[in-house]
Amino acid sequence: MATTAMGKRLEGKTIVITGASSGIGRSTAVEFARTSPKNLRLILTARRIDTLKEVAAQIQKEVGDGVKVLPYKLDVSKPEEVSSFVGNLPEEWRDIDILVNNAGLVKGVARAPDIAAEDMNIQFATNVTGLVNMTQAILPIFKKRPDGGAGDIINIGSIAGREPYPGGSIYCATKAAVKAFTDALRKELISTRIRIIEIDPGQVETEFSIVRFYGDKSKADAVYAGCEPLTPEDIAEVIVFAAGRRENVVIADTLIFPNHQAAATLLHRKT
Ligand SMILES: NC(=O)c1ccc[n+]([C@@H]2O[C@H](COP(=O)([O-])OP(=O)(O)OC[C@H]3O[C@@H](n4cnc5c(N)ncnc54)[C@H](OP(=O)(O)O)[C@@H]3O)[C@@H](O)[C@H]2O)c1
Repeated sequence: MATTAMGKRLEGKTIVITGASSGIGRSTAVEFARTSPKNLRLILTARRIDTLKEVAAQIQKEVGDGVKVLPYKLDVSKPEEVSSFVGNLPEEWRDIDILVNNAGLVKGVARAPDIAAEDMNIQFATNVTGLVNMTQAILPIFKKRPDGGAGDIINIGSIAGREPYPGGSIYCATKAAVKAFTDALRKELISTRIRIIEIDPGQVETEFSIVRFYGDKSKADAVYAGCEPLTPEDIAEVIVFAAGRRENVVIADTLIFPNHQAAATLLHRKT
């Protein structure tokens, strides 16, 4: 099979994906492997190590051993786990080229003053502090490269970060924080070759709503009733596309909707 220009550009890269056990992160791992199957290193991280091992086996089965996969148990909401992450990697896995900051979650639909402190804290600790800590852990590797540094940081934001909606105030605030951090970082790194990329999905059907409703599948299903949401593969393709551009091309900011969505809460539903 001929290698595409994108596949060639990705060859030899070491890629870290957070939240690779499910949804968008899992599909992104598979899509990177399919796009550049000859020579790639994928470090797949999440809290569910057994699921990461299944993803690794799926990739190995599909593309063979040109793609090396390292499943790594990492809770990004725990600063001490993030700070020891790079040092704990085997030597040959440390020269990271791409970080996909994808791990994230939403909890509940409560409105102030009824928001549980626990739900608020886990969303900020994962979506914001976790993403910032991962970025700070990896950036020194990028900055050692010529021309001030090179590498890609791909942050998964959300339409929720652009357009806050009732019942999502904390989640929306975390994603607005991701957007502010990402935009400031791109400016801070202007004199380097480091690319700072944000991808903001609209509605994607993953485990996201199941987590939001504390495991209640019927409530999660109701979110998608009458709609055709995006699939995690739809977002994975955009992530891999952004990483696979020529080095001088930065897909700085992308908003992706399914066809029947035009705002955070404006969805055309078939009745
Ligand atoms: N689905 C949507 O409609 C949508 C829309 C816009 C943006 N997003 C964003 O897309 C990203 C991926 O979500 P998804 O839709 O693919 O949901 P998902 O299927 O629930 O996947 C979330 C992933 O994040 C991981 N994760 C959660 N907390 C973590 C932690 N503390 N440490 C490490 N990993 C953690 C989970 O793994 P473990 O449980 O194994 O740790 C899982 O792999 C999130 O940032 C989300 O906010 C989703």
